[in-house]
Order: sequence, then structure tokens, then C-alpha cells
Amino acid sequence: MPRSPCAAFACLAALAPSLSLAASLSLSPSPSRSGAQVSDNLDPSFAGFGIEPSNLFSFTGWNEPNEFSIQLLQNLADYSGAPPHIRVGGNTQDYMIYDADYEDFGWKKNPRSTAQGVIAADSMIIGPNYLAALDRFPKDTFITYGLNLAYKGEDYLDKIVNHSRAVVENLKNTRLYSFEIGNEPDLYLENGMRAAPWDGQTFTTQFMERADTVYQKVLKPKGMAPTFFEPPATASTIGTTFEIAMLNSDGILDRMNGEYYVGWWNQHDYFYFIGVTPTPITLNDLMDMDQTNTQFAYWEKQIKIALNTGVPYVLREMSSIGPIGMHKVSDTFGASLWTLNFFLYMATLNVSSVQMHMTDNSNASAWQPINVYGKDPFVRPQYYAHAAVAQIIGNGNGTTQIGALDVGGAGGDYKGRIRAYSAYANSALQAVILINSKQVNASESNKASFTFNVQMGASNANKKIYISYLTADGADSLTGTTWNGMTFSDEDGQASVVDESIYQYSLDGNGAFSINVRDSEAVVANLDWQLGSNKVIKVDGSTTSGSRRKNAAAPSVTGAGPAIWAAVLVSFLTLATSLGAF
Ligand SMILES: *[C@@H]1O[C@H](CO)[C@@H](O)[C@H](O)[C@H]1NC(C)=O
Ligand SMILES: *[C@@H]1O[C@H](CO)[C@@H](O)[C@H](O)[C@H]1NC(C)=O
Ligand SMILES: *[C@@H]1O[C@H](CO)[C@@H](O)[C@H](O)[C@H]1NC(C)=O
Ligand SMILES: *[C@@H]1O[C@H](CO)[C@@H](O)[C@H](O)[C@H]1NC(C)=O
Ligand SMILES: *[C@@H]1O[C@H](CO)[C@@H](O)[C@H](O)[C@H]1NC(C)=O
Repeated sequence: MPRSPCAAFACLAALAPSLSLAASLSLSPSPSRSGAQVSDNLDPSFAGFGIEPSNLFSFTGWNEPNEFSIQLLQNLADYSGAPPHIRVGGNTQDYMIYDADYEDFGWKKNPRSTAQGVIAADSMIIGPNYLAALDRFPKDTFITYGLNLAYKGEDYLDKIVNHSRAVVENLKNTRLYSFEIGNEPDLYLENGMRAAPWDGQTFTTQFMERADTVYQKVLKPKGMAPTFFEPPATASTIGTTFEIAMLNSDGILDRMNGEYYVGWWNQHDYFYFIGVTPTPITLNDLMDMDQTNTQFAYWEKQIKIALNTGVPYVLREMSSIGPIGMHKVSDTFGASLWTLNFFLYMATLNVSSVQMHMTDNSNASAWQPINVYGKDPFVRPQYYAHAAVAQIIGNGNGTTQIGALDVGGAGGDYKGRIRAYSAYANSALQAVILINSKQVNASESNKASFTFNVQMGASNANKKIYISYLTADGADSLTGTTWNGMTFSDEDGQASVVDESIYQYSLDGNGAFSINVRDSEAVVANLDWQLGSNKVIKVDGSTTSGSRRKNAAAPSVTGAGPAIWAAVLVSFLTLATSLGAF
């Protein structure tokens, strides 16, 4: 949305005398990486998605590809350097049986289901076109594929071998990254998948037997690595025998037949789960970022324990509100700010990858892929946070590292509402990300703001800094979100620039700047160039075009598929249109 050029610094002088101290904060990120407490390099596919298996076709399309979903994924690949990591998993992975003879694009109810379970562990049949559909996602998309652990009929090993072999053989455009075996086994007693005795130890034994069988019969003959499996640790409850430390002492990280099978600790969480979390929730609660820290405190401990074992930790199922979101909370612009903060927070904890879970009917999914609730497909505000994170990551060509800045000084009305992060590229400070999540609704005519006074270091004196906004009319806005001046089409998922202004300013002689960030808004302040205007090095070594503006028409792209060319063209046309308007 167009904004007056005085939105940032120019207004500050006028406002400064009346600013109360509580509504401002001074930050001094270390200009060099040494001396800063920062994350590992962020993987370009870090900010990913989970897709519920029963809903896969809604996202991929049936006989015809769902080009809208595919484009939305491709945008993020172009921004970060690699497509978002996809986990195909959830409750329904534990209901699915692979049948090589079932040729529909879809799944069918198993007419001869015999297995146990409140919903039987063999109640759904899928076939090769399930995998063909999944393989429509952008080239080289990493896939974590959820296999069925619940099924325990006498042919259970044959079935998991057949299924995993089909996955290995049929994913050609995308890249199989790992197998998750079982979804949330800590809940198997409740959902009738197992009878007692069932605990972390029995799970470990059953997980290892399946991993070993899949490796020996499927992966090894194809020359693939054994360290390819993800054990799901406790998902929903504190104090189960499925905690990471317990699975570790049960021997899940030990060798079996000479091989280490566990490559990642896999955990799931939701900020809030309807029917499980005892207290009610409002948008204002979701936007109180201290509440996210409180909710996540237990998982922070699990992450530390996991990383101390030397095995990376991935959050393969996450969302603001489960199981399927909450209208006017998880589908608002406020939830987009929550998402941006959550990804950056996870980065600072060295979580390697985060998958925001999607179903076709969830009001917490980043987009609605098909017609549901009488509404055609559309992009939710949350997607714009994925776009922001993808551009922040791509901006460093694989060297982006995130640090948390101390926001303890933001008190009063702003307690829990202010977050600030540093982003490093090539070991030097590259950007700061400033979030003001104090709720202000779209209808409010007088919106307040919070002032960040940022000292970028004397080495950055007089440099240029460019501001990118994640914004909408208000926290409760369901539509109209923009990121970095861009909007994403509900028709075809393509980006277009709706605000051509370039918010370029100069740091002062000490390397400092100040900026007012409106309540319910976030900004990225990037040194030297407009975020997204540079080429991004792709993980396969080629480069993608800049994702917007200046270099958008650079034709020297190597190894880029048609989708990237299309993106280049659209950006170029948009640029041409905007120039014409002047
Ligand atoms: C994250 O990893 C980096 C690089 O290995 C390390 O310096 C930092 O201390 C880690 N942070 C946490 C919270 O583990
Ligand atoms: C596994 O696949 C083979 C070859 O298609 C088939 O003969 C066999 O019946 C399958 N096993 C099970 C348990 O589905
Ligand atoms: C999700 O949001 C739509 C509006 O987009 C609403 O009609 C529907 O009832 C909501 N669904 C749930 C389960 O809250
Ligand atoms: C990333 O690579 C591109 C293309 O080589 C370059 O223009 C850009 O400056 C690089 N970005 C960083 C942060 O190194
Ligand atoms: C925003 O609107 C919601 C209802 O739509 C209301 O409950 C809430 O109090 C409003 N918040 C503010 C800060 O105006």
C-alpha cells in the first residue's frame, strides 16, 4: 500500500519531542559477527510447510496441477535460493497404505480395512499418482516423507518397504530428504493405535526395526545413506516417556547393524490448540510475543537437549492455532507478525527447519489451495511472513545468521510487543528486523508507533539503509497485506509491486538511525541495497534473478526453469508499468 515518504525518518524530528520513553528503545547490534551471539547459517529451505497427507491433492492438484500453490512455493524458492522444505505428514500418514495398482489422483477408503485404531491404521489407500502429484512441487524441493508406523498387520515390514521404495523411485523433480516414521506416537494409546505396554522404549524398538528394514531393503541397494530417518519425539504432552533424553537413553541414537539411522530430532508443537489448551485465545494474545516464549519454554529445553546429542533439531509440525486455525485470529495480519517473529526466534535457537502445518480447510494455512467455505483459493497474510523470511535468508546467499537483540527496555504498553533481530551476511551486520506487535485494528484512525534508535556501528557510518515493510491496514486485517511493497495474486500466486517507493535513507556519521514502526507492523532495515533487489545464489550453485526491482530483468540466469522466467517477466512488466506511471 502506498505510504507517505515521511513514514520513516523524516517524521521523526517532528515527533521526537513528544515521544515517551516507554515507546522507544535503543539497540546496538555488533557490526561484526564476532562478538555477536548468532545462529548457524540459515538453510534456504528453513521456513517450510507441512502438508496433511489426506489433503495433499488439494495443494498439488488432482489430474491437473494446482498452479496457484506451485507458484506460491516457487516465489519463496526464488527469494531464498531453495524451495521451502516440505513435510508430508500428520495423523493421516498413520492411516495410509501404498498400493502400486491404485492409479487415481486421489486416495480412497480401503474397502478391506482390518487394522486397529480409532481410525484404522490401514483405512486409506494411495498409489503412484500420490507421488506423481507431490513431485509437481518446485524442482529440488526437499521432502520429509511420513511413513506409517501405526500399521502392525503381519505384513507390516513388506508394506513399509513397498511404500518407501515407491517414494524413493517416484520422486524425481523433488528431492527426498528424510523419512519420518510414525506421527506423534506418544498419542498411540489414546487413538487406539497401540495397547499397553506402549512407551518410548517400545516405540524405539519398533522405529529402529522399520528404519533398519527400509535401509537394508530400499536405501542401501540404491547407494543412499543410512542416516535418513526422523523419530518423532513427544508432541503434545510434557512428561511422557517420548522425550528426547528418554529416547536417547532408550538407544534410538545407537547403531543398529552397524548403522546410525537417526539424522534429525523431529518435534511438533502448536502455539495454541483448540480443545487442548485450557484457556481461551484472542488475536491480542497471539500478538503478545512473551506468550510465545512462555508456551515454548519447555520446547527450548528439548532443543538444548537435542543439540547436545549432536543431532540437529527440526520442528516439523507447527502452527499458531491447531488443529485448523481460528477465523479472525490465525488468518489476520497480526498472525503474519507472529509468524515472522516465530521463524526468527526459532533461528536464534538453532532449530534447523520449521514446517508450518497446512490443511485445505485450516484458517492457519498460509494459503487456501482450493474452494473451501464457499471461498475460492486465496493467499493469507501469513504467507507474507514466509516471503519476508525467504528474502532475509536469500539476502545473504546462504550465509545469513540471525541474532536476538535485547528488547528488555520496551516496557509499559509495549511489554511483549517489541522484538528486534540482527541479520548477518558474510560475517558482517547486514540488516535489522524490527517488530511492533502492539495490536491496532484497521478501523483505528490514529495509529501510534514505536521508535527504534539503532546504532549499526561506526564502520557503517554514512552508509545507505533501505527499509522494507511488512504491513496492512491493521492487526485484524484479513486482506491487503504487503511485504516489501509486493502483493501476491489470489488468481495465480504471482508477485506484483504495488508500492514502488524506495525507502532509502542515510546512517549518520556514527552509523546510527532511528525509525518509527507503527503499532502492528514490522520492518527490515537493510544496509546498502533494497532487500530482494540482488541476485540470490541458488543452492545448486546457479543464481536466480533479483526478486523485485532493479535486477529483475537480468537474463543471465543459468539453470533456471520456466517458472523462474515467468517470475522475471512479471517483475519486469511491473517495473515497466511503474516507470510508465511517472
Ligand atoms: C547456534 O549455533 C552457533 C554456531 O554454531 C553457535 O555459535 C550458537 O551459540 C548456537 N546458539 C544456540 C542458542 O545454541
Ligand atoms: C509389495 O510389492 C510387491 C511387488 O509389487 C507385491 O507383490 C507384494 O504383494 C507387496 N506386498 C504388500 C504387503 O503389499
Ligand atoms: C475459516 O474462515 C472462513 C472465512 O475465510 C470461515 O467462513 C470459516 O468458518 C472458518 N473456519 C473455521 C473452522 O473456523
Ligand atoms: C549474493 O550474490 C549476489 C550475486 O553474486 C551478489 O550480488 C550479492 O551481493 C550477494 N550478497 C551477499 C550478501 O553477499
Ligand atoms: C480490535 O478489534 C477486536 C474485535 O474485532 C476487539 O475485540 C479488540 O478489542 C480491538 N482491539 C483494539 C486494540 O482496538
